Amino acid sequence: MQHETIIILDFGSQYTQLIARRVREQGVYCEIHPFHLSSDAIAAKRPMGVILSGGPSSVTDEDAPRVEDDFYDKIGVPILGICYGMQLVAADLGGAIEPAARREYGHAKVKVLSGATALFNELPFELDVWMSHGDHMTRLPDGFTPVATSEDIPTAIENAERGIYCVQFHPEVSHTPLGKEIIRNFLFDICKCKGDWTPAQFIKEEVDKIRELVGPTGNVVCGLSGGVDSTVAAVLVHEAIGERQTCIFVNNGLLRADEFEDTLKLYKEHLHLNVIGVDASADFYSVLDGVVDPELKRKAIGAKFIDIFDAEAKKIGDVKWLVQGTLYPDVIESVSLRGSSVTIKSHHNVGGLPKKMDLKLIEPLRELFKDEVRLIGKDLGIPDEILQRHPFPGPGLGVRILGDITPEKVELLQKADRIFIEELKNFGIYGDVWQAFAVLLPIQSVGVMGDFRTYEKTVALRAVTSTDGMTADWARLPHDFLAAVSSRITSEVRGVNRVVYDISSKPPSTIEWE
Ligand code: XMP
Repeated sequence: MQHETIIILDFGSQYTQLIARRVREQGVYCEIHPFHLSSDAIAAKRPMGVILSGGPSSVTDEDAPRVEDDFYDKIGVPILGICYGMQLVAADLGGAIEPAARREYGHAKVKVLSGATALFNELPFELDVWMSHGDHMTRLPDGFTPVATSEDIPTAIENAERGIYCVQFHPEVSHTPLGKEIIRNFLFDICKCKGDWTPAQFIKEEVDKIRELVGPTGNVVCGLSGGVDSTVAAVLVHEAIGERQTCIFVNNGLLRADEFEDTLKLYKEHLHLNVIGVDASADFYSVLDGVVDPELKRKAIGAKFIDIFDAEAKKIGDVKWLVQGTLYPDVIESVSLRGSSVTIKSHHNVGGLPKKMDLKLIEPLRELFKDEVRLIGKDLGIPDEILQRHPFPGPGLGVRILGDITPEKVELLQKADRIFIEELKNFGIYGDVWQAFAVLLPIQSVGVMGDFRTYEKTVALRAVTSTDGMTADWARLPHDFLAAVSSRITSEVRGVNRVVYDISSKPPSTIEWE
């Protein structure tokens, strides 16, 4: 079934994914594509509308990213240009763009001109918006009229006859409080969408798709991690083919305290998944023995995981499919206008699986953002305990124990980490942070306990706020809370006499310490 689709052309803005989320929040499906997608390819997708994103370039540059020459004539559906998108429209259709004396960045007030446009339907005549641009328009493109101004300069223009609407500001960011309404007006009043993208609909279609893909007898294997994505993917596939999916949940000895037992129970008893729990802790500890370098740890853990998974999967017999919880942000072909980025950490530790095992992939979440996965998960009856869980890296505590890994250190860190997480929940602030965890440092320091001098280990607490893990800020947790955690750790975890709180943001730090 063809959904109503909005196409977003990405010109490299850091907000492009936000545009997509704002569109989908309104129940309209959308796809992000690089700006150079051909006009024919766009038209072939039969979109209801096209959004041109912002971007860091200047349309006055010779090599500025552009749409194809025939784009405006060929598309035949409404267009919304945002920031760079507006300047591109202006430059392409007879307007003039020039570098501004200074870059405009931050809050601004916009006046909607009276009698104006569908884009600002039912909105007040004055709007708070967020601006971020270096160029400005000095002549309107042919046939366009200004529909809003900021300090007498047009900040929104339109050619309603051609269905082209442009805003200089960013309606997709939360600093534009009524931006959601502007996007809603574009979708529903201008593009005439109805909103046919709902969790229930998604589940129904995905279940049908999986059944068709796998056929009446095919068998499927799925690796569970205890996290949101793999769990939602597995439950979705279970809806489609039931016991023909075998899930494998490996204990690598680097999970949180009791996580293996508790999660396995939840998988079996609450979600009724066909799941095999494999406790391979000893195997992992043995390959990690003496390994100190973070990347070597990751490689060792990744390779061991593949071995174990492969061996277990072979026991199941005739399997042709592997379920993976890949999400949309992993799939979007990102536009790199500033050269390719270097690998800071090799995150995708199970990437080698399908190749080694010669399996075909089922990725039922590859069109979804994380918040949508949670909504789908809720509809599927997955408890909040899993859906609201913080992200947890594949190598687990392995990259939170600096230096070499031993079972004793793992146990010590599990105890400290458990206290931290328990108290976050007790204080009702677990949901306020993106990730929180304890790190065991490879140093000892002097302390005093009763009449005795101690020389013991240090635990660092890390808690960050973030929207996608790409950038992060250290969480301003209440001092009373930190005091409670510190006092519990030093009194309940033997071998730790010092607790510190990490106040570094990403960049320049990363979220994990290794
Ligand atoms: P960093 O430390 O790079 O982390 O700021 C960003 C996000 O990625 C997670 N992370 C990993 N996830 N395997 C994973 O599956 C890894 O090796 C890995 N390293 C970091 C990290 O927890 C954070 O959410």
